[in-house]
Amino acid sequence: MGELLIYNAGQIFTAAGGPRRGAALAEKTVAAGDALLARDGLIVAAGPRTDVEKLAGADCEVLDCGGRLVTPGLVDCHTHLVYGGSRADEYERRLAGASYLEIFEGGGGIHATVRDTRAASEDDLLSSARRRAEVFLSHGTTAAEVKSGYGLTTEDELKMLRAAARLGKELPLKIIPTFLGAHAIPSEYADRRDDFVALLTDEMIPAVTAEGLAEYADVFCDRGAFNVDETRAVLAAARDAGLKLRLHADEFEPLGGTELAVEMGAASVDHLAVVTTAGIDALAGSDTVAVLLPGTTVFLGSSHFAPARKLIDAGALVAVASDHNPGSCHAASLRTILTPGTTYLKMTPTEMLHAVTINAAYSLGRADRLGSLEPGKAADVAVFDAADVDELFYDWGPTRAWATVADGKVVYRDAPPRFNP
Ligand code: NIG
Ligand code: FE
Repeated sequence: MGELLIYNAGQIFTAAGGPRRGAALAEKTVAAGDALLARDGLIVAAGPRTDVEKLAGADCEVLDCGGRLVTPGLVDCHTHLVYGGSRADEYERRLAGASYLEIFEGGGGIHATVRDTRAASEDDLLSSARRRAEVFLSHGTTAAEVKSGYGLTTEDELKMLRAAARLGKELPLKIIPTFLGAHAIPSEYADRRDDFVALLTDEMIPAVTAEGLAEYADVFCDRGAFNVDETRAVLAAARDAGLKLRLHADEFEPLGGTELAVEMGAASVDHLAVVTTAGIDALAGSDTVAVLLPGTTVFLGSSHFAPARKLIDAGALVAVASDHNPGSCHAASLRTILTPGTTYLKMTPTEMLHAVTINAAYSLGRADRLGSLEPGKAADVAVFDAADVDELFYDWGPTRAWATVADGKVVYRDAPPRFNP
């Protein structure tokens, strides 16, 4: 596969040393040097160019970063990248005063995207998701978790997951698939919720695992979606079928989903905008990652940001993701929410960059392969048009990376005018 020497970096932020919690989240992880060597898709070394280039062969390709910031490729650990249609009309209704839950409970919201997704073919879903995934790559994201959850019939959920699998084969973006059949009770089951839960546990989960289409299962445990008992039933069936667990909880109402996720050993519990003290305490001593989604809070015009500082200070593992989806956060990528994310969550740039790299990778069971620039790990790298991490976050606006590298290959190059002289 060859070699790539990345050199002349202004700063190499490595995120080395494994997942981070508490004060360690804010410790700077910067390589002493300006160069990085990749061979056969893996990182060989990071350090001063004079040392690193000695390890390179004659045919080594080079990428001169011109003094720019080098980071691990961003890992987006919560997205709904595959779906049909658009909810721009609903965005305008919300601006005029309608709430997200009112629209959802009135048959719009997720239900609207379910109608559009059912009407789309697998090829349609793949081509719209491919466009979004190309934007992700151009913004420095090299791995993304992708959820189903807009089909809500066995065939339509399988269709979404097959599209996600094809996406991962066609693009250098690494895709981690999650079955989210428990995203909403579809309207045809409104009066027989138990039958839908049984469909999830007895038919959909076995069908998804038989085809090996998902690594994780997720449930939207909140007002208007699934209650705690239903959530427990779905997660237990998923776990018994060999899936790892994630959970949407405490976005609108704290029903106890966070405590349940920790009790069941879930890899992550996501949103946490209205998490209680009991929820924070449960997360504090656990390996369940608190995945915060500040872009969603901004996009919904809410002021209930997840209590990032309390979670970090309590010792919870914190990651941040885009939650890209057609309704509650139509953000182009994780990069676009870094500056508002730090502003509203009151995290430092270093904390945030660890949260979207190594901690996000850990939540996806990939801390050994992704999320940091260390020898032996995948050479997934983002180069941003900023001198260092502080400047990356201070620059609110340039969203594209200057270069993105996946498995040691340059997969995206941009030449925007420089924002900083
Ligand atoms: O994470 N909250 C539930 N699910 C998504 C939104 C899905 C939608 O509105 O289409 C979320 O925000
Ligand atoms: Fe979500």
